[in-house]
Amino acid sequence: MSEGNSQIIPKPIKLIAAACNNMGIGWKGHLPWNLPKEFQYLLETITKVHQPGKKNLIVWGRRSFEAFDENLLPLANAVIVLLTRQLRELPKNAHYMCRDEEEVVKLVSSSPLCDEIETIWVLGGVVCYKNMMRHPWCSHIYFTDIMADFECDTFFPEFDKNIFKLKEKYPGLPSGIQEEKGVKYIFQVYEKDQFPK
Ligand SMILES: NC(=O)c1ccc[n+]([C@@H]2O[C@H](COP(=O)([O-])OP(=O)(O)OC[C@H]3O[C@@H](n4cnc5c(N)ncnc54)[C@H](OP(=O)(O)O)[C@@H]3O)[C@@H](O)[C@H]2O)c1
Repeated sequence: MSEGNSQIIPKPIKLIAAACNNMGIGWKGHLPWNLPKEFQYLLETITKVHQPGKKNLIVWGRRSFEAFDENLLPLANAVIVLLTRQLRELPKNAHYMCRDEEEVVKLVSSSPLCDEIETIWVLGGVVCYKNMMRHPWCSHIYFTDIMADFECDTFFPEFDKNIFKLKEKYPGLPSGIQEEKGVKYIFQVYEKDQFPK
């Protein structure tokens, strides 16, 4: 274990979410909308690595993982960690289970993941978004603003826009208003000011 005997090297924690006008993200355990191109953007973003041989850690609450289309798993360049207190057995396609966010950070700070993981992507749901955005390693919120009304029962938590600042243009981010099935949306990145790029 590299934890304990040497310094912990921080990994960027990035949240990624899509929310509609009322900040809704979910409805009855699923996404409230069906926007394949927006979803493709999520897949491309979370599976991209900059250094050869590296992987990203994908952090999922149990319900969000269960809502994800199993046919798209396993994801390229990804190690999947589930947040759960109930599950005793690792579900198919998940690599690790953690009981809380602290355990996730410990996991990624220890061998073998400390050498393997480039970015920690947080894919929801609400509690893990809320807890991870407060972590000192949290550097970015990738946020798709879905400019439409959908019925929702699950909502993206509020965040401080003085700490996470909206970047007008961001490298690699498709710019301008997108439209799919008559629904307009815009890809955004909020960056924490003090976090080095
Ligand atoms: N629009 C988007 O970008 C987006 C993204 C993600 C999810 N969603 C939607 O959001 C909904 C699911 O989100 P949700 O907030 O209801 O559920 P969730 O967070 O995905 O899952 C809740 C479960 O995850 C575990 N869990 C969550 N946080 C934990 C923590 N801090 N420590 C330990 N365990 C934790 C617990 O599992 P156990 O019960 O097993 O202990 C909890 O019951 C779905 O509708 C999904 O489609 C939308």
